[in-house]
Amino acid sequence: MPSADQPPLPPVDRIPSDVVAADDYRQAARRHLDDNAWAYLQGGAADELTLDDNVEAFRQIHLLPQPLNDVRGGHTRLRLFGRDYAHPILLAPVAYQRLFHPAGEMATVLGAGAMQAGMVVSSLATCRLEEIAAQAEAPLWFQLYWQGSRAASLELVRRAEAAGYAVLVLTVDAAVFGVRNREQRAGFALPAGIAAVNLAAGANAGLSGTGGANVFDRLMTTAPHWDDVAWLVEHSRLPVVLKGILHPQDARRAVEAGVQGLVVSNHGGRTLDTTPASIDILPAIKTVVGADFPLLLDGGIRRGSDIFKALALGASAVLVGRPYVHALATAGALGVAHLLRLLREELEITMALCGARDLAALDAQFLLNPP
Ligand code: FNR
Ligand code: LAC
Repeated sequence: MPSADQPPLPPVDRIPSDVVAADDYRQAARRHLDDNAWAYLQGGAADELTLDDNVEAFRQIHLLPQPLNDVRGGHTRLRLFGRDYAHPILLAPVAYQRLFHPAGEMATVLGAGAMQAGMVVSSLATCRLEEIAAQAEAPLWFQLYWQGSRAASLELVRRAEAAGYAVLVLTVDAAVFGVRNREQRAGFALPAGIAAVNLAAGANAGLSGTGGANVFDRLMTTAPHWDDVAWLVEHSRLPVVLKGILHPQDARRAVEAGVQGLVVSNHGGRTLDTTPASIDILPAIKTVVGADFPLLLDGGIRRGSDIFKALALGASAVLVGRPYVHALATAGALGVAHLLRLLREELEITMALCGARDLAALDAQFLLNPP
C-alpha cells in the first residue's frame, strides 16, 4: 500500500503475469493509487451496505447448468440501439479518470476499442469528449448530468451528437452526492489540474459537497424532473436511456415518456445507502418493461458468471465500473483491454458449461430458485 514515504507506482506498460481475474486488478491497483484516489474510487455512501450487497447478491444466485445442450457455433454478439456489439460488456461512466491514469479517458477508450466494447463517457470526464470520440473504435455513449437548465444540457447533448456518440444516458440518481463518509475520512479532494473539462467552469459545483441544510433549496432546484426527461427525448437525436432507475413505477413512467432504455443501477452504492442490490430489483423491472425493451444493469459485476446471471434475469447487457478502473490504474489501455477480455472469456466459459449457445438463450432456467 502506498504511504507518505512510498508513493504510488506508475502504471506499467504490460499485462501483469499474476493478474488472472478482476479481483487481482483490484489488489494491484491499490499499489498504483494514493489514498485520495482510492477513497474516491472504492468508496460508497454512508455505511457502504449497498456497495457490499451489489457483490454479495450475485454470490447468492446459483447456476443450474444443462451441460448436454449443443452449443457449437455459439457466440456473445448482440444488437443494441441499432448497433452491433461483439459482447454485452460496456464500460460504465466513471468521472475524473485522470485521477487514476495520466492519460485518463484517452487510455480507457483505447482499451475499449481493442476489445470492441462500448464505453459510456461521463459528463465529468477529464478529457474533451470530441478527443475521446476521435480515438474510438467501438460505439461511445454519452452520460449526461443535467446541467441545471435545458439550454445548458442541450449544449452538451449537441456536442455529443456532433462527435458521433450513439446513445445518451441521463443519470438520474445523483442530483447531489451521497453521504460519502469514506471520502470525508480520507479528506478527498480533486488534485490541481484534474477537472471536468467538458463543462462550463463552475457547473456541477453542487456535486462536490454532501448535504447540509442547503440541499433542497439550493442543489435540488437544478435537478431534472419527469417533464425534463420528456423534453430531452423530444430534443435529442440519440436514443435516451435513464441510468439509476430502481423503482418499477419509475420504469413504467420512463417507458411512457419515450425513454428507449434503462440502466438498473444504484450508482455502485455511491449515492443512497441501503437501496437494494441492482440484480435483486432487476426481475421486478423486467416484468414492467417487457421482453424487448433494452435493459442494462450495473453494480457488482466482477465475474463473467455475474454477467450470465444478469442476462438470465432479463438484462440485455451490463456495465462494469470499478474493475476497469483498477485495470486502468495498473496497466493503462492494455489493462482495460485485458480486464474486458477476462470477463468476456469467463462469460463464454459460463455459457458453454451451462449449455447456452447465445445471449438469447439465457434465461432464468439456468438459475436455482429464480425469482
Ligand atoms: C461512478 N459512477 C458514475 N455514474 C455516472 O452516471 N456518472 C459518473 O460520472 C460516475 N462516476 C463514477 C465515478 C466512480 C469512481 C465510480 C466508481 C462510479 C457510477 C458507475 O457508472 C456505475 O454505476 C457503478 O460504478 C457500477 O458499479 P461497480 O461496477 O463499480 O460495482
Ligand atoms: C460519482 C459521481 C461523479 O459517483 O457520479 O462520483
